[in-house]
Amino acid sequence: MTDHFPKDFLWGASTSAYQVEGAATTHGKGQSQQDIINDERAKQFGFADTSITSDHYHHFKEDIRLFKEMGFTSYRFSIAWSRIFPNGDHQVNEEGLDFYRQLIRELKANDIEPIPTLYHYDLPWALVEKYNGWLSRDVVQDFSDYAKFVVNAFKDDVKYWITINEQSIIVQYWTQKCYVPKQYQDQNQLRYQINHHMNLAQAEAVKHIHAAGGLAGPALGYAPVYARTSKPEDQIAALNANDLRNFYYLDVYFRGYYNVAALNYLKQHHLAPEIAVGDEDRFKENLSDFLAINYYDSQCAHACPPDAEHAWSGYNLTGKKGDMSGFETHPDFYQMCPNPELRTTDWDWAIDPIGLEFVYRDLYTRYHMPFMVTENGLGAYDELTADEQVHDTYRIDYLRDHIAATQRAMSMGVEVLGYMPWSALDLLSTSNGYKKRYGLIYVDRTDADPKDCRRIKKDSFHWYKKVIASNGADLR
Ligand code: BG6
Repeated sequence: MTDHFPKDFLWGASTSAYQVEGAATTHGKGQSQQDIINDERAKQFGFADTSITSDHYHHFKEDIRLFKEMGFTSYRFSIAWSRIFPNGDHQVNEEGLDFYRQLIRELKANDIEPIPTLYHYDLPWALVEKYNGWLSRDVVQDFSDYAKFVVNAFKDDVKYWITINEQSIIVQYWTQKCYVPKQYQDQNQLRYQINHHMNLAQAEAVKHIHAAGGLAGPALGYAPVYARTSKPEDQIAALNANDLRNFYYLDVYFRGYYNVAALNYLKQHHLAPEIAVGDEDRFKENLSDFLAINYYDSQCAHACPPDAEHAWSGYNLTGKKGDMSGFETHPDFYQMCPNPELRTTDWDWAIDPIGLEFVYRDLYTRYHMPFMVTENGLGAYDELTADEQVHDTYRIDYLRDHIAATQRAMSMGVEVLGYMPWSALDLLSTSNGYKKRYGLIYVDRTDADPKDCRRIKKDSFHWYKKVIASNGADLR
């Protein structure tokens, strides 16, 4: 029984490059697909673009000082491929490489474990222009070369590598997380083809990380799916949803093959990827060492009739409860729905700390590998008061309950290496600009006006500092 967190538990928080760095097209960086996608979203919805975001590129030393003040022993960030290789290929941008060298050096000097992610949605735009990016299998070799280069550059300072961020979310929201030219957007089989290329790329990364003596883990956006009722047909629907939304990815990472039921369903509906001879061997030879869990909410499903219309995951773009644009529907397999038992955020994300405990317990039984929480957090409208404070008690409550859930799972024997909520500081939300904030540190800017991006400590900053100082014993 563990009633407390181990001494070497990694406490920290997370960010990703394009959401926090800024300097999107300066200092030698090439454009990434996210620079293009977010430029379009800025024009369409008034969200900020990627040019400045939280200006971490110029504030990273100040940010690390604040991380140190909170007591961080880890920081999960991502490396922008197009900052290292502006054209996606082998031509190095020395200034970009030096930025990450300095970032990692600064973290180490402050006894903070650097935990880089190799890929967080930001493919070099040059590769989209060259061969339609992830739609082409050519990307696997380019990703392999990039991963090998980065891993070798930083292998002396990095132990834990996160490979690819949230493949399952990329499949669900593919045009938001990946640039898909208009003429392909109704070809839904390509969602799974892109994912197959990512699985091959992920296997390549694992190979290079192992060769360099590191440990590799994919970050999966993980939401367990509950059945809406105890009716047997709803139970099967939930099983189907878990197979297609969750185990379809995990079985590849940790067993080296596609989940059988999910792959069969995809084949029956002409959605399955083309798999070349030898692909699954590559997965089997390069299994991951740990799972990086990005947990925000749980989901719910019920049975779906065979004549229902196929639909993909909806979203809430306004931050007004109930403004969800629709629910994923796979005829004769499952239909997603709200869970009437749970409260939600303003963006309709269910709040369910017990769901995280469920994930740890369930996945540890199935795969028996260690976890690291690399995202967990509450997206909310934060208000900066006249005396420059942010009273984000709702965020404190959310984080407290999820840390307690982590502790309960650990007391049942589950191995958790660290907890890095989303996000260390406010950043550009992938779906809602700067209106929806997650940070422990407030960044003074709006979507329309980047102002000076001044850093202001939120109440959650002070609370988390106390949590870390007590090694998780004091969650008040
Ligand atoms: C995860 C991503 O899906 O969720 C992050 O890895 C993202 O990049 C986070 O920011 C929260 O989602 P959103 O859309 O609210 O920013």
